[in-house]
Amino acid sequence: MNKSKLNVAVIGLGTVGSGVIKLLRKQKNNIKKRTGIELKVVAVSAKNIRKQRSVDISPFRWIASPLTIAKDPDVDVIVELIGDMDNTARKIIIEAINNGKHVVTANKSLLAKEGSVFEELAKEKGVFLRYEAAVAGGIPIIKVLQDSLIVNKISKLYGVINGTCNFILTKMESEEREYQDVFSEAKQLGYVESDPRLDIGGIDSAHKLALLSCLAFGTSLNFKAVKTEGIDHLSIEDIQEADLIGYKIKLLAIAEYSRNMLKQEVSPKLIRKSSPIAQVNGSTNIIAIEGEEIGTTVFSGPGAGMGPTASSVVSDLVAIASRKTKSTFLNGDKKNDSKSDDSVSKKSSFYLRFILKDKPGVIARLSGKLGSFGISINQMKQKPHPKQKATLIMTTHKTLRTNLNKALTDIMKLKICEQRPVCIEIQEV
Ligand code: HSE
Repeated sequence: MNKSKLNVAVIGLGTVGSGVIKLLRKQKNNIKKRTGIELKVVAVSAKNIRKQRSVDISPFRWIASPLTIAKDPDVDVIVELIGDMDNTARKIIIEAINNGKHVVTANKSLLAKEGSVFEELAKEKGVFLRYEAAVAGGIPIIKVLQDSLIVNKISKLYGVINGTCNFILTKMESEEREYQDVFSEAKQLGYVESDPRLDIGGIDSAHKLALLSCLAFGTSLNFKAVKTEGIDHLSIEDIQEADLIGYKIKLLAIAEYSRNMLKQEVSPKLIRKSSPIAQVNGSTNIIAIEGEEIGTTVFSGPGAGMGPTASSVVSDLVAIASRKTKSTFLNGDKKNDSKSDDSVSKKSSFYLRFILKDKPGVIARLSGKLGSFGISINQMKQKPHPKQKATLIMTTHKTLRTNLNKALTDIMKLKICEQRPVCIEIQEV
């Protein structure tokens, strides 16, 4: 790449694509000064040429078919920002790499599933594949793991990596509103992915966690092994009860690697209020990394939005211009036994909320079942609930998740519950 200019094509002109064009324009001279290379947008593509945009695209060649751009001899780098539509993004990336073009993408779901395939192909063709914007928006966590922390043996990483869920949980708490109400607001504000299940079902966090895990631990990409649970069953009552005992509820993504075993999990957790994780509000993301040399290091910042995400995309373009490392680190070869299930070995305390029939003997039967699985209650309170029901809130002493699951299954069979109990692990981080 002995060029003084890199020709860039931007595919996808939504919030992030428009932000990338704006930022490249704004930073043109600075980038040239620092890298000696001009990053020049030469072509753009999106679904609709006539759509009102916050950026003027008239100086660029408009190409209706994005797959054509991937073969265009005048283009050096493809910036793919169209998301997971109809396999198009996948075809663009493969076609671009096959045609010797560098690729920058923010496509977390595609990378989580196929990143290692792209990595192999990019290696074979000698091109760069970079994806800083795929995880945690403006936080440069990919580069940190690929570069700055490379000599650290990392044992654990955890954090909040979905801004939409954190926005919803924070607003439920601060405005004492129910889940559905705040979810509708987040949708109206344009925070929620076009398929909302990605956000609220924890899947978006799982995509990001799978990428971070293989960067951090050198394991192979294994998105399917991420145990995933969302936030849509939570109520303001859970948040308020957690608050009373000194905790906040966060959708926590956590990955741990030890003795060839990788544990990856996304689920709501009770986090002690004093933890930095609990203090992250709104759409902000936070990631803590535990490394042998650095101890615990915490990164926090905007997890989405035009400016932060464009900043990450453009930083990848600058890295390509500066000829930074080609490896994506998405093809680790460390042993990775994800079948291991720590619910049979790790003990934790849990928060439980039951909606019960308000009848004599119900609590005795319920606590009897818990006791029969060796589960000891730490705190418990009953609250009135309309229509002859009772809300029972409790926390347990440390117990195995597997025993609790069995007890909850048996409790459901007693037909004393009006709905599935809410069960959240109390996580000490
Ligand atoms: N839906 C994502 C989030 C956008 O809420 O974090 C950024 O990846």
